[in-house]
Amino acid sequence: MPLKILLTGVAGFIANRVASMLLDDGHTVVGLDNMNDAYDIRLKEYRLAALTGRDGFHYLRADIADRAAVRDAWTAGLAYCGGGRRGRPRTTAS
Ligand SMILES: NC(=O)c1ccc[n+]([C@@H]2O[C@H](COP(=O)([O-])OP(=O)(O)OC[C@H]3O[C@@H](n4cnc5c(N)ncnc54)[C@H](O)[C@@H]3O)[C@@H](O)[C@H]2O)c1
Repeated sequence: MPLKILLTGVAGFIANRVASMLLDDGHTVVGLDNMNDAYDIRLKEYRLAALTGRDGFHYLRADIADRAAVRDAWTAGLAYCGGGRRGRPRTTAS
């Protein structure tokens, strides 16, 4: 049964690949990303371009902290959260 899935961080390494696989399987993907500059944004644009125009793909540039945007996007049945900042600083014990 085809699902409608909200996928955050869709321009990122992991979620972009997940989106592609879900679309291959005939699901609908609402992809959300704020396109932050944690690393070269051209890489994110390149990944996003591979999804843009594919049947069943809808992109929303927004932050997952933006409740109104997420509420509007929330027509999905499932959510996968791939949005997050890589390389979170480690704590050091003294
Ligand atoms: N890549 C790995 O091997 C790996 C391993 C373990 C855990 N993780 C974690 O999984 C998550 C995704 O990893 P990745 O490699 O795909 O990272 P990534 O940085 O390539 O992708 C994350 C995406 O989320 C987006 N994003 C970040 N904060 C956002 C926000 N507030 N609102 C909307 N979009 C936001 C970014 O713009 C980016 O496109 C990260 O939290 C990472 O730490 C990754």
